[in-house]
Amino acid sequence: MGLFDSWRRASKQQSHNSQQEQAKEEEKIKEEVPSPAANLEEIEEEQDVTIAASIEDAEVVERDVSRETFDEEEGFVAQPIKKYADKKPVKHAIGTTKIIAILNQKGGVGKSTTAINLSAALGELGKQVLLVDLDPQGNATSGLGIDKGQLEACIYDVIVSERPITDVIIPDVCDGLDIAPSTINLAGAEVELVSMMAREVRLKEAIGEMRGKYDYIFIDCPPSLGLLTVNALVAADKLLIPIQCEFYALEGVTKLLDSMKRVKNYLNPSLDIFGVLLTMSDRRTTLSKQVASEVRKYFPKTVFEVEIPRTVKISEAPSYGMPITQYDPNGKGALAYKTLAQEVIRRG
Ligand SMILES: Nc1ncnc2c1ncn2[C@@H]1O[C@H](COP(=O)(O)OP(=O)(O)OP(=O)(O)O)[C@@H](O)[C@H]1O
Ligand SMILES: [Mg+2]
Repeated sequence: MGLFDSWRRASKQQSHNSQQEQAKEEEKIKEEVPSPAANLEEIEEEQDVTIAASIEDAEVVERDVSRETFDEEEGFVAQPIKKYADKKPVKHAIGTTKIIAILNQKGGVGKSTTAINLSAALGELGKQVLLVDLDPQGNATSGLGIDKGQLEACIYDVIVSERPITDVIIPDVCDGLDIAPSTINLAGAEVELVSMMAREVRLKEAIGEMRGKYDYIFIDCPPSLGLLTVNALVAADKLLIPIQCEFYALEGVTKLLDSMKRVKNYLNPSLDIFGVLLTMSDRRTTLSKQVASEVRKYFPKTVFEVEIPRTVKISEAPSYGMPITQYDPNGKGALAYKTLAQEVIRRG
């Protein structure tokens, strides 16, 4: 019986048990909690107001959603868009630059969260880091407080129009951390690249000129194995694969490893896995523990010791345009990403 089979059976049983428990729990809640209609009527009576009966009746409040970071007095304010030429001088000698793509074609596993928080944690430890946002969703860009609406150019212009990457890099968004941002324009690149010369190596060429200027370059990949991801696989020295501690954790991993092997055979012979990171772990649940131990068996030696816990603060931080190390510096999320940064440095 393969590892996958035993894992699936165990997880299925676990999921079945928890479904039964959940159903019981829901029954109990139904008995205890009055229906929403009853609630609305009570609230209306108490407060002498009429609550919109349907979504059509509700008043639409327009909000300015283009400002990403938060200030106690001013509300949301975005980071200033600085030029690469204004970058603070680097105080240490840079050795070999490590280019690491953060990749898993599965959506929502913690790629961008890891890209932001690991980069910031390494920056705080004195490293020079460039984060390349290669996802048209631009979550790493907005999560670091950049207002995408204010950008005159982004990584799309670098890959498709061959603009120098220094034209788009925004320096010092946090200590030691620069970002090459993304906007929705990048969504077009996937199609435009198809008919272009050297379509798989365009990012490699663009990033190549930054070797020697940073200790680490991270690439936050989109959740697909399309041409943008292939560009990341070709540009990177190593891969960091975040895996969410949930039932279908290893689903799609074989396909991901297959893509890695194909790129390794034809375009980037030294490509390898740098590390596998367990994300959104909840040590209180049996499922999370089972998944973690299965992933550790599946990738012997490559899984980072530290697991990133699921915390509300980690999910809140991007809406304030801050890494967790700034938003909640003493919380367990920040501690986990700082520990990860140290493991990354130890791995060289
Ligand atoms: N450790 C965590 N604790 C709580 N929430 C988390 C954690 N890590 C990520 N999240 C939340 O999970 C969601 C998905 O995370 P994230 O955007 O980092 O995933 P992703 O792999 O980059 O997604 P996509 O594939 O869409 O690019 C986000 O809402 C994020 O805030
Ligand atoms: Mg993402």
